[in-house]
Amino acid sequence: MKDLFEKAQKVLPNSYSSYSGFKVSAALRMKDGSIITGVNVENASFGLTNCAERSALYTAYGMGYKKQDITEILITTEQDDFISPCGACRQVMRELIPVESTVILANNKGEMKTLKNKDLLPFAFTEDDL
Ligand code: THU
Repeated sequence: MKDLFEKAQKVLPNSYSSYSGFKVSAALRMKDGSIITGVNVENASFGLTNCAERSALYTAYGMGYKKQDITEILITTEQDDFISPCGACRQVMRELIPVESTVILANNKGEMKTLKNKDLLPFAFTEDDL
């Protein structure tokens, strides 16, 4: 997990977040061993902001990876506190990452909280409901 943390912290300065000043990064571990990162990208039209988790996931899917290729995701910030992924990201992670996979929340010191993806969004609306 330390490698995921280091990769995520390394890209944290790439966060485009001058409106909130809140930098977030995410790192996905893939079954083939690669690590894919993402940062939050804000916009003057605030609602168009893309969170770090979704940036990383959409990059992975754009590269051709699928749900079963992902084993875990780590999310971190510059803060002492642990980030709590927003509702939109929980919904997207529920669909694009296996439910049994690990979601790691890391603070700036590298301390980590580990959860299961499925526990982040109880009673979720999913593709099976359509
Ligand atoms: N943010 C994320 O990147 N991920 C989350 O799970 C929560 C919020 C970003 C969005 C925005 O750029 C900034 O943090 C403040 O809300």
